[in-house]
Amino acid sequence: MSRKLLALILAAGKGTRFKSEKIKVLHNLLNKPMVQWVVESIQRLKPEKIYVIVGYQKENVMHAIENDGIEFIIQKEQLGTGHAVLAAYDVLRSDEDKDLLVINGDLPLIQTKTIRLFLNYHRKQGNSLSFMTADLEDPTGFGRLIRTEDGILSIIEEKDATPAQRKLKQANVGIYLFKVKDLLETIKRLDNKNIKAEYYLTDMIEIMGRAQKKAGPFKIESIGEIIGVNDRMELARAVDVLRLRKISELTAQGVTILDPSSVWIDHDVHIGSDTTVYPFVIIEGRSSVGHNCVIYPSSHIFQSKIGDDVRILPSSVIEESTIGKGAQIGPFTHLRPKTVIHSGARVGNFVEMKNTVFGRGAKAGHLSYLGDAEIGDEVNIGAGTITCNYDGIKKNRTIIEENAFIGSGTELVAPVKIGKRSYIGAGSTITKDVSSESLAVARSRQIEKAGWARRKQKIKNQK
Ligand code: UD1
Ligand code: CA
Repeated sequence: MSRKLLALILAAGKGTRFKSEKIKVLHNLLNKPMVQWVVESIQRLKPEKIYVIVGYQKENVMHAIENDGIEFIIQKEQLGTGHAVLAAYDVLRSDEDKDLLVINGDLPLIQTKTIRLFLNYHRKQGNSLSFMTADLEDPTGFGRLIRTEDGILSIIEEKDATPAQRKLKQANVGIYLFKVKDLLETIKRLDNKNIKAEYYLTDMIEIMGRAQKKAGPFKIESIGEIIGVNDRMELARAVDVLRLRKISELTAQGVTILDPSSVWIDHDVHIGSDTTVYPFVIIEGRSSVGHNCVIYPSSHIFQSKIGDDVRILPSSVIEESTIGKGAQIGPFTHLRPKTVIHSGARVGNFVEMKNTVFGRGAKAGHLSYLGDAEIGDEVNIGAGTITCNYDGIKKNRTIIEENAFIGSGTELVAPVKIGKRSYIGAGSTITKDVSSESLAVARSRQIEKAGWARRKQKIKNQK
């Protein structure tokens, strides 16, 4: 039986290089906070417990992490990564026989399978401390692995390193595994005699060596996983890695992405097979798109559910809405929150809907605003129809029953109800309910004055 595993995520530091009012680990990558990415890759290892060290803006961090099974430990002052682990000292005392994974909260790209390899190495070696390293072409900013004169391994931080040490390529990643007992025995030996006057967790490597305890590096090859996100340029690079990872996952599942360089799909989005996504499409939040759909260029879909066989024509915006099987949306459609489009419906150019249910096979082809409305199956909405849902105080509902036909340019002053199979004459302003199977026309009658223009012209000519 291998020892049980605990995990500790360091998320107390401000992250000054972000130049932000918000703590670094709460900056988003594909709509998910940086520290949440770390939490999820650790959760997949199923450790017995996950601790998160919080300090700067701790309430916000505690609030942002989806925390089933997570315990927070407060580091009152942020005096360095070693000091952060020290904050867990008392909590760890009852777990001496376990392993502890310590990970910086700014490593959102690390994959569970890589940590698993690291854990296997640690257990096989029987190390007191294992630390992950990578050989980097440009290791600027990372601590470097060195060997002291008496042959003991050590990590020197960039700021404390000599020019010769800075040339070394083996970088410290910021992920460690300790035997808890050995950690507790030695961690109080940390000091802050360095340029930053911080307690460096990295000094534990030399401390272990001097205490005759085994400390060893585990070198990883997949260096794309270890960008430590310290500033906004590194954030952008990390986002790009995650974005492409998501796209390759989707293509492996049978989704066609025509231009991976311009498409953005959030981590929590599901897309069915045989769906095609054109360039410049953005799909955000917990959205899902069905099987065999086509999403044409430049649409933005947020937190929405789209069924099978749906076509989204170019430049549509779909927020918090649901679209049924076989419907067609766009081009230039705007579906605002709480809109439900039932199967086979068509919504076209410059149609805006909000909090509206649109029935099976119903059509609204052009230039309409439908808000707070319930529209039945097979209803036809003519061009330029407007639901006047707001009376200046509250929002009112419009109900249009199945198979009704709303002529072009109609204004429906809510609350109002149009009965099934009724017709509304074009250009009507409807203020009263219309019963089923009727025709309602509400506009002034047309008058014609024969020869009026001819007479007008004559008068002009006399002047
Ligand atoms: C750290 C390592 C460095 C390594 C690099 C990899 C140390 C001393 N150095 O440097 O060797 O190459 O990561 O990315 O560990 N934190 C706290 N409390 C604190 C200070 C920091 O919780 O008092 C947290 C931060 O929120 C962050 C993590 O620890 O998530 C790492 O801190 P950071 O300042 O980014 O360390 P680096 O300078 O990148
Ligand atoms: Ca860092």
